[in-house]
Amino acid sequence: MSAPQIMILAAGKGKRMKSELPKVLHEVGGLPLIVHAVKLAQTLHPQHVIIVVPREHEQIKNAVQKHVPGLKNCSFQIQNKQLGTAHAVRCGLRAIKAASGSVMVINGDMPLVSPKTLGNLVKEQKRSCSPVVITVSHLPKKTDPVLSGMRNCLFHFGRVVRNDQGRVVRIVEAKDASGRARTTNEINVGVYRFDLGFLKKFLNKISNRNRQKEYYLPDLITSAHAQSLPVGVVEVVESCEALGVNSCQDLCLVNEVFYARQRQRFLEKGVLIFGQEVFIDEGVHLAPGVVLQSPCYLKGRARIAKNVCIETGCVIHASRIQKGAVVKAHSYLEESVIGEGCQVGPFARLRPQTVLKGGARVGNFVETKKSRIGEGSKVNHLSYVGDSLIGRHVNVGAGTITCNYDGFKKHRTVLEDGVFVGSDTQLVAPVRVGKGAVIGAGTTVTEDVGANNLVISRVRQREIPGWAIKNRQKNNS
Ligand code: UD1
Ligand code: CA
Repeated sequence: MSAPQIMILAAGKGKRMKSELPKVLHEVGGLPLIVHAVKLAQTLHPQHVIIVVPREHEQIKNAVQKHVPGLKNCSFQIQNKQLGTAHAVRCGLRAIKAASGSVMVINGDMPLVSPKTLGNLVKEQKRSCSPVVITVSHLPKKTDPVLSGMRNCLFHFGRVVRNDQGRVVRIVEAKDASGRARTTNEINVGVYRFDLGFLKKFLNKISNRNRQKEYYLPDLITSAHAQSLPVGVVEVVESCEALGVNSCQDLCLVNEVFYARQRQRFLEKGVLIFGQEVFIDEGVHLAPGVVLQSPCYLKGRARIAKNVCIETGCVIHASRIQKGAVVKAHSYLEESVIGEGCQVGPFARLRPQTVLKGGARVGNFVETKKSRIGEGSKVNHLSYVGDSLIGRHVNVGAGTITCNYDGFKKHRTVLEDGVFVGSDTQLVAPVRVGKGAVIGAGTTVTEDVGANNLVISRVRQREIPGWAIKNRQKNNS
């Protein structure tokens, strides 16, 4: 069988989101909806993915290119006016020259649909030889309080109407539903497979005489039935796959379901998750034996090796953490690399391009940026380390600040192996401190320091005997 053609509908305004952002750019599990749809399509190794987009679609295109790099077989077709899903498909068809074969159509706002459901759609078309295969699910019962959120979301979906023989005869939008259509609990998920010949013949015949004055794609089911053509039906593998994003409530619910599924997936892989508020984005990699304490947020392409513990309140963004490291409570890590056995936090902030080598420690109220901290080195308390290269076994005392910015440019600080930095030191960059040198507490280092030297720049202490007594007497008289 030849590779399928897949069309993703992503031109809708998403009015119900009440947001400036195009609907398909809203995120689930850290990825825009459109990216979920493209990734889903990719699982079928399609020969061509057509994305139907509005005129202003730079952001949508950029999101796809950013998150699905190397995507070759993809084209964007513009729908100038949002006249409905059937009209969107008509716009998408401009990219398909072939008169025969088939095309799969996926609504771009259904991020939970599984590759397995999609695969079942392909199988059903082969089995039934239907020119149309639809995907369905069922509304949860009103009486089920746990599923009431899901019911609210799905309640707005098109209803599948069957005749007395159980054949699908039409799909009625919830807004237009009355009679039998109102009482059925079978709903249209919005993932279809069509014969191209059938699609090209009947798409133009759809009218917009309905509540929304739109051209509805599901009206093709009525066309098929009128021609006595069978309609194939596939049920989603898991009922939550049917959830779509049309409002902020939906987006919230779909994210909840997404993260609950991620937790389940990682628990099965041997990750220890304590508490419910653990959010693991799509693309995060966790090895067995990782411990996650709720609440915490793992974003971007974070990769965490075995036996790493992430304590409560942490955000880990696109960082690599190696074996046995501990990130203590309330730390925020971005685009950093943490070596084996390192300790970070509590309350540490590691900004992009921080690299900690094995066993290094960064403690409370320390901020780092674009800095490499060598093996076994410590920056334990209240410091700022920016644009720095710190060697092995360096001790950076409490309150040390690298003065890396002169208002125009950033400059580098280098602390060679074994340097000891006393507390409350300012390192005015560019500056280099040689191997094994000692910086006395309270020093402002403005020039390079030679290896093994002591540098100290504080004012010599004076002590005046009895001064305090005299001062009190003077002020009290
Ligand atoms: C649609 C179906 C409904 C189904 C539901 C499930 C129609 C008329 N109704 O309703 O039966 O239960 O999906 O997902 O199809 N779009 C365009 N151009 C347009 C309009 C929409 O590209 O002119 C895109 C949207 O961006 C979206 C998708 O098509 O990704 C579906 O449109 P939406 O408005 O969300 O349809 P629903 O009301 O959810
Ligand atoms: Ca929708």
